[in-house]
Amino acid sequence: MAKNAQKKTLKAQNMTQLAIFASGAGSNADKIMDYFKDSDRIKVALIVCNKPGAGVLEIAKKWGIEAILIEKQGFFSEKSCILALKQHKIDFIVLAGFLWKVPEVLVAAYPQRIINIHPALLPKYGGKGMYGDKVHAAVIAAGEAESGITIHYVNEHYDEGNIIFQAKCPIEVGDTPADLATKIHALEHAHFAKVVEGLLV
Ligand code: GAR
Repeated sequence: MAKNAQKKTLKAQNMTQLAIFASGAGSNADKIMDYFKDSDRIKVALIVCNKPGAGVLEIAKKWGIEAILIEKQGFFSEKSCILALKQHKIDFIVLAGFLWKVPEVLVAAYPQRIINIHPALLPKYGGKGMYGDKVHAAVIAAGEAESGITIHYVNEHYDEGNIIFQAKCPIEVGDTPADLATKIHALEHAHFAKVVEGLLV
């Protein structure tokens, strides 16, 4: 084996391999892949997506990272997702705009090794159906003066696992859900990859 290839293989053996589950535009996935692109400790090895045509699939292509599309039946009833994760030697799972509830079988297969980002200050404004602009609209309608992001471990209940990290931003009078989404994305992009790194290195 050529020296460089050998070096690469050795490097890969010591790496923590991440899978990012995402089904939206994928801006968080993009930031995470950028952050770890030269890392010799953490590698984004797989994108798991449940939405054909989602922006994150193009982003995976841009970074040359394999993406798999899953469908609900297989994800819930069989262990096909777990098999795929094991095949790709995935150690840790990051949910970045993934809206399905993670099935118990997957939580059990990756105990304390699945984290999610939520675009509000949990425990408020979480749960089934609370995602993206719906969250921001609810926060603004409630007259909150601030919102933020929560990164938390995933358990079998929506948005209820132990909180790892939160960061806040102010809400100004007249802010729309789109304005708040911009502030929240900025917080996510600034913190998410660093929090992942802090958990793994
Ligand atoms: C992010 O704001 C994330 O917090 C949110 O979806 C967005 C995905 O953006 N997740 C949820 O609402 C989960 N309940 P992205 O596709 O640009 O990374």
